[in-house]
Amino acid sequence: MNTLFMHCRPGFEGEVCAEISEHAARLNVAGYAKGKAASACAEFVCHEPDGPRRLMQGLRFADLIFPRQWARGRFVDLPETDRISVLLEQLADYPTCGSLWLEVLDTNDGKELSTFCRKFEAPLRKALLKAGKLVDNADLPRLLLTFKSGREVFLGLAEADNQAMWPMGIPRLKFPREAPSRSTLKLEEAWHHFIPRQEWDERLHSDMTGVDLGASPGGWTYQLVRRGMLVTAIDNGPMAESLMDTGLVKHLMADGFTYQPKPPVDWMVCDIVEKPARNAALLETWLGEGYCREAVVNLKLPMKQRYAEVRRLLDRIADGFKERGIRVSIGCKQLYHDREEVTCHLRRLESPATAKKAPRKH
Ligand SMILES: C[S@@+](CC[C@H](N)C(=O)[O-])C[C@H]1O[C@@H](n2cnc3c(N)ncnc32)[C@H](O)[C@@H]1O
Repeated sequence: MNTLFMHCRPGFEGEVCAEISEHAARLNVAGYAKGKAASACAEFVCHEPDGPRRLMQGLRFADLIFPRQWARGRFVDLPETDRISVLLEQLADYPTCGSLWLEVLDTNDGKELSTFCRKFEAPLRKALLKAGKLVDNADLPRLLLTFKSGREVFLGLAEADNQAMWPMGIPRLKFPREAPSRSTLKLEEAWHHFIPRQEWDERLHSDMTGVDLGASPGGWTYQLVRRGMLVTAIDNGPMAESLMDTGLVKHLMADGFTYQPKPPVDWMVCDIVEKPARNAALLETWLGEGYCREAVVNLKLPMKQRYAEVRRLLDRIADGFKERGIRVSIGCKQLYHDREEVTCHLRRLESPATAKKAPRKH
């Protein structure tokens, strides 16, 4: 069981390898990373059998930027018939698991295999329950089977509270028909990823105010309005009439990089496609100057050294806050709805007594 297996967006295997290698070096876990281009997966092969478990223990999955899913285990070759017997044999040295997910990779082959997985899941589940390898217990590790083909599977384990929230790391979000653009799902996914569900009512509520930089036609504004917020939408482009009709949106034709809210607001979101360093600087200013308490901003990825460049920008933002003497939590993820970009989430950590209150009026 010496392999840590990770899913990712096809084309980002190199970024996963760079990211996990950096963490492995820091955690003193010896091994090497590999990932075939466009395979939508990468591996970290450890020199010690205990390496993958130590890596997973030393990291929070939610803090990783490029992996969409992870599990520790090994690859198993399957016969054409009676796959279940072979799987049961191979699971002999695996612990009893508390849940089971069957997964495929985010490739065309993977899509074709998902029908097989759907059919295979019920008989496999039944056999695992009967063999005592699966019980209904959320505290036990999750058994993750990633099928690379009908003949090759990765038998993986992951703690249910330290892995992807959705199978394959792909959220099942329904596109709201009233939303003016599909990118609305990006902000919704960001909230799912960065804000625990039980905190939504406290951190996304109708007494709050928000600014949407680069708002047109309003997919992100729609999400803020859906939570009942008063929103200032900044963009030279038009906003959807349906949003303006809510009475909750003020549209300003201004430059998102120079606009300053007066008074400060609770939320800033920004979907302007710009040089990543410029959007990163914007984040530092908004959180650093106290223009907002919490922000979600897209960072477009550079062409090369994508992981190294993102890491450099995040470190620079963190250093900026350190110099200012303020505490800000910084998260970054390539979400399922992100393509050549990552999404950052920042939140000022300070006692309510020192936090600036944003009065709610337009
Ligand atoms: C990707 S779109 C935003 C889509 C929007 N988030 C949605 O969900 O409908 C980017 C927007 O940024 C705007 N934009 C580009 N540069 C800007 C700037 N300096 N200030 C304000 N808006 C800008 C563009 O006009 C464009 O409408």
